[in-house]
Amino acid sequence: MSSAARKKVGVLISGRGSNLQALLAAGAEPDFPAEIVLVVSSKPDAQGLARAARAGVATRVVPRRDFARREDCDAAMTAALEEAGVELVCMAGFMRLLSAAFVAHWRDRLINVHPSLLPLFPGLDTHARALAAGVKLHGCTVHFVRLEMDSGPIVGQAAVPVLPGDTEDALAARVLAAEHRLYPHCLRLVAGGRVKVVDEMAAIAEPGADAGARILNPAP
Ligand code: GAR
Repeated sequence: MSSAARKKVGVLISGRGSNLQALLAAGAEPDFPAEIVLVVSSKPDAQGLARAARAGVATRVVPRRDFARREDCDAAMTAALEEAGVELVCMAGFMRLLSAAFVAHWRDRLINVHPSLLPLFPGLDTHARALAAGVKLHGCTVHFVRLEMDSGPIVGQAAVPVLPGDTEDALAARVLAAEHRLYPHCLRLVAGGRVKVVDEMAAIAEPGADAGARILNPAP
């Protein structure tokens, strides 16, 4: 796919950046409809910054503490993203609440990955809470971002089983592996113009696969 036809993507991170790595790998494929052009970190020591640098992708650090107000910090992020020509923004382990102005500015152009099957378990400690609730299926969600934390039209979800004897770490690792499949898949759909938000639902234009066999919905 020609560079002009690919959507320019900015990724927001705060830490490890393993989802960023999955997006970078997808973006390196010639037929992928998006390319990562900028990584913005809220933390100067985020491991994801080195991943971006290794992939030759530009980075910016925009720490909240450099600004008096959250709105000013977010405006600096928007300025950096727009300077880089970003059309779509992916949050990948970005652990800071965004201002209403930022969320409104990027409405339907801002997606997030969350480690639970939303609307179950928004917020932190999702794996411990899933274990405590005794759910038998857990997973992850990619969704368009709205102001309320971990809410917004759902683009896709991947489910994993909760196994007898699971620890929080074992379950987290299983979910993370699912995130690494789901997030590039959903970015492909969104960047390819195959997802429309209608009445606060994400409608996906693709032929239905065998719905009963899916643990990743929509299926690849
Ligand atoms: C991922 O599990 C992501 O879903 C989660 O943080 C982790 C980041 O890992 N995000 C949230 O909890 C946001 N609500 P990574 O930095 O290795 O991609």
